[in-house]
Amino acid sequence: MSDIRCIGICTGGGDAPGLNAVIRAAVKSAILKYKWKVIGIPDGFDGLIWPERSRELTLKDVSGILPRGGTILGTTNRGNPFHYKTTENGVEVVRDISDEVIANKRKLGIQAMISIGGDGSQKIAHELFEKGMKIVGVPKTIDNDLSATEITFGFDTALHTATDAIDKIHTTAESHHRVMVIEVMGRDAGWIALEAGIAGGAHVILIPEIPFTLQRICEYVSEREGYGKRFTIVVVAEGIKLPAELRQLSRGGAVGNLVGDGIALTAHREVRVSVLGHIQRGGSPSPFDRILGTRFGVAAVELIARGEFGKMVCLRNAAIGCVRIADAIGRLKTVDPQGEMVRTARAIGICFGD
Ligand code: F6P
Repeated sequence: MSDIRCIGICTGGGDAPGLNAVIRAAVKSAILKYKWKVIGIPDGFDGLIWPERSRELTLKDVSGILPRGGTILGTTNRGNPFHYKTTENGVEVVRDISDEVIANKRKLGIQAMISIGGDGSQKIAHELFEKGMKIVGVPKTIDNDLSATEITFGFDTALHTATDAIDKIHTTAESHHRVMVIEVMGRDAGWIALEAGIAGGAHVILIPEIPFTLQRICEYVSEREGYGKRFTIVVVAEGIKLPAELRQLSRGGAVGNLVGDGIALTAHREVRVSVLGHIQRGGSPSPFDRILGTRFGVAAVELIARGEFGKMVCLRNAAIGCVRIADAIGRLKTVDPQGEMVRTARAIGICFGD
């Protein structure tokens, strides 16, 4: 057992529905089960640069936050104490302020930290652990691309949002006989596109893991017309690798627009594009994400109680477990192009543009 009396908690990286469920569960179990004091650190590790901005989190502070999207602590996806960008005498410089951050944590009386975040935040947590900080991690990303955990909270809610959008676009696509392109998030992995595409009955799904050509998409649109389907739904992950013909058209901006322009120019069809963007990161977390967030929050507190620092909670075979943060970082979980999910989609006629 550890001799902990005070812990700190912060959220880093892009937000995800379910963060507040983790914070609430960690605060409640730390106070109710262990009688620890909990300090909320604002805006990721950046909050430790200004310790006066941190505040104690009581049971009252976490009351009512379970159904709320976002994070009551605030977050940033830029702050890294090992590469802290600042301006000195009008010049931008990058400094290592990790010693300052560790000293400020000590000033606040924090003996152990819970870092909730994606791959980038866990890398920082690992470096701080190597410098002696007692820290545990909770994985987070709507993209669901962390290899150490079966699933991350936020993904299920994002999937609901994207599927709902595809459902809505479906009816107008059919009415107007149009090709409708919907761009969803997924910087490195196509999980949201693949699963929302299957759930929403998309006809074409483009993901970073499967190279595609414009020609194949246009042929597929014609094939559908051949059997009386005068509309096509194309779901595009933001991280797709553009084929040469689309790279030529590119002036930056959303890849969904580019795919839409490419189809309109090549297939001479009426195309409309919707870029869902950050709508996928917001909203009230689904029951699944609230439950997973709650389980992760409690499990993180238990790791601290057992003195198992440098570890991150995870879900494996539907059970809560943990891994060394060192083993969890830098390994992304991408869609297997030969995997069961892609084979299922192909079996029902979904085209991946290849
Ligand atoms: O959380 C991951 C993610 O949703 C990516 O899919 C997307 O590229 C990124 O966040 C966008 O983040 P931001 O606009 O906050 O920098």
